[in-house]
Amino acid sequence: MTMKHLVTGATGNIGSLVTHRLIERGFRPCIFVRDEARARALFGDAVDIRVGDLGASQRSLAAAFAGMDTLFLLNSGPGLAARDRATALAAKKAGVSHLVKLSTLDILTSVGTGPWHAQGEAAVQESGLDYTFIRSAGFMSNALYWAEAIKTERILRSSTGEGKIAFIYPADIAEIAVHSMTTRDLRREAVVITGPKALSYAEMADVIGAAIGKRIRYVPISDDEASFGSDAYAEAVTDIWRAIGEGRVTTTTDVVQRILGRAPRSFDQWVAENVTEFAAPGKSRGRRAQS
Ligand SMILES: NC(=O)c1ccc[n+]([C@@H]2O[C@H](COP(=O)([O-])OP(=O)(O)OC[C@H]3O[C@@H](n4cnc5c(N)ncnc54)[C@H](OP(=O)(O)O)[C@@H]3O)[C@@H](O)[C@H]2O)c1
Repeated sequence: MTMKHLVTGATGNIGSLVTHRLIERGFRPCIFVRDEARARALFGDAVDIRVGDLGASQRSLAAAFAGMDTLFLLNSGPGLAARDRATALAAKKAGVSHLVKLSTLDILTSVGTGPWHAQGEAAVQESGLDYTFIRSAGFMSNALYWAEAIKTERILRSSTGEGKIAFIYPADIAEIAVHSMTTRDLRREAVVITGPKALSYAEMADVIGAAIGKRIRYVPISDDEASFGSDAYAEAVTDIWRAIGEGRVTTTTDVVQRILGRAPRSFDQWVAENVTEFAAPGKSRGRRAQS
């Protein structure tokens, strides 16, 4: 019998890639979304849709998860551990057998959102469900938040100094998630996945500059100048930038190679595929980073 896969976060960055990869692999995933119209616009008739909110009661979540075998879980922000807990308990009640959670590499150093995800992972483990935790490095797509300043000023400003990080190609995360959902290989495992090479922000500015044929100047700024707010999320992101600057987030692993049988894709490739975001005039996504 065909496995039934449920994807949360399907209208966002990684969840949409997970959904597309499942469709490409011949599945008809079910997606759990807040906005049905947006979901239909993204995936047409290739998915089943269940409308709901991950902050809803455990009972309504369990009803929404009925009939599913695996669940891809994506929660963000300071309240994510409570939503992870409720989702895991609801999934267990609904008969889901395996939960794949998008987590963060920052668990290893207790930086930024790491403590929130650590609590989320613990809650999932306590639920008794089989799990896979995908502890991802920062996403290459975070570079989109530099696009406006690169387009208008040819500058990349950051408080990360000369620190390096091995950003990961977003679709590599999705492929690891799909592998986790469609095989038994990674059950009860936490995998740390990164891009192939740690790069400084100045080096990433050079890669973008080479792709658009312009020199991009890297301008170091202070934590205060980099900060975009005083809420918990903004503080967590500033904390990650500080840790990068201190050389605490340089980890690279061979896990993508080991699991997918090929090397993780490079920042050069991601930039080449997204070059218009940095070169063409028009609306960009602003400077606020994600983590
Ligand atoms: N950025 C990084 O470098 C990085 C690195 C490691 C780990 N992470 C982790 O990756 C995750 C973020 O992934 P992403 O960038 O793919 O996220 P994203 O693009 O911001 O998408 C978030 C998704 O979650 C959905 N969502 C938000 N609140 C919801 C709720 N209450 N109920 C149901 N759905 C809800 C959103 O739906 P709507 O369309 O309805 O808003 C959207 O589909 C976070 O857990 C973060 O800690 C990020």
